[in-house]
Amino acid sequence: MTRASAPGKSILFGEHAVVYGRPALAVPVTQVHADVDVTASPRAGIWIHAPNISLHEELSSLPSDHPIASAIHNFLFVCRVSPFPSLDISITSTIPVASGLGSGAAVTVALIRALSSYLSLDLPNEQINQFAYEIEKLHHGTPSGIDNTVITYARPVYFIKGQPIETFTVGAPFTIVIADTGISAPTKESVGDVRKLWEADKTKWETVFDEVGEIARTAKERIENGDWRLLGALMDANHSLLQQLTVSSPELDRLVETARRSGALGAKLSGGGRGGNMIALVEKDAAAQVSEALMSAGAKRTIVTEIANG
Ligand code: MEV
Repeated sequence: MTRASAPGKSILFGEHAVVYGRPALAVPVTQVHADVDVTASPRAGIWIHAPNISLHEELSSLPSDHPIASAIHNFLFVCRVSPFPSLDISITSTIPVASGLGSGAAVTVALIRALSSYLSLDLPNEQINQFAYEIEKLHHGTPSGIDNTVITYARPVYFIKGQPIETFTVGAPFTIVIADTGISAPTKESVGDVRKLWEADKTKWETVFDEVGEIARTAKERIENGDWRLLGALMDANHSLLQQLTVSSPELDRLVETARRSGALGAKLSGGGRGGNMIALVEKDAAAQVSEALMSAGAKRTIVTEIANG
C-alpha cells in the first residue's frame, strides 16, 4: 500500500487580489489533512472509495469532469501509464469542504502524490503542483494557484501568480485561531463575482487590489522581522477591503467582530469568503478565550495553529 497526505491551508493576506497578480501570504494548516491510500485491486479497474462523500465507484462510471476522476485521468494520460493498472484508491479528508481551507486542492495533491509514488514515478513537488493547478483550473475557473502551491509544498508561501515559488521565514512564531462559519461557499462563485465587479470598473478595483497587495508585502516584512503583533492592524485593513469586494458576509463579519472584542489583535475572513473560515491573530495565551467567544458567537469549530518555519 502507498499512502500520501496533504494539509489544509489558510490565506493570511491577499486573497482575491492574488488572482489579479498581487502578492498573497498563505500557510499550511496541518491539523486537517487529506489522505490517500493506493493498493493493487483484486478486481479489474480503478476503484475509488471516498466515504466522506459516499463515493464507491469504478473510474469509468464517473463523469469525466468529476474532480477526482479528472485528476486520475489527467495524471495517467500525462504520465503515459498504459495499460491502466487495477487499483483500489481510498480517499479520506478531515478538511471541511468549501470552507476556505483548500479541501479540493489537498485531495488532488494527496491523490497525485500517492499515485506517483505507487507507480514509482516519484514526481517532484513542482510537477505535482502543476497537475494540481490544472485540476484547480478545471473546477474553479480562474484560480491564482496559491491553494495548490501552499498545499503541495506544505510551507508558508509568499505567492505571486506565475512567478517561481517564494517561501518566507517566520522571525518569531505566532498564533492564529481559525473559525468556521459552517456555511459552505464555493470559491468559484466569489471569484466570479469579483471578476464582474472588476470588469465593470477596472480602475476602481485595481486600486483596491493594489492596497491589498501592499498589505501583503508589508505583512511579509513584519513576519520576517518577528514583528507579528503588528499584523493585527493589517488583518483589519485587509478585511475592510474584502468587505468592499463584497466577499464577506454577516456571519463572517460577526465572527471577525467577536474575535476583536474578545482579545484578538486583528481578524479577517480567509479564502474565498461569503462563508467558510475567518482567522484571528492572538497572543498564545489568549487563544482559548478567543476560540470560546467565537464558538459562542456561532462558529461551528475552531482550530488554533502556530505559524512557524516549516
Ligand atoms: C481561495 O483560497 C483564494 C482566492 O484568492 C482564489 C485564488 O487565489 O485562486 C479567493
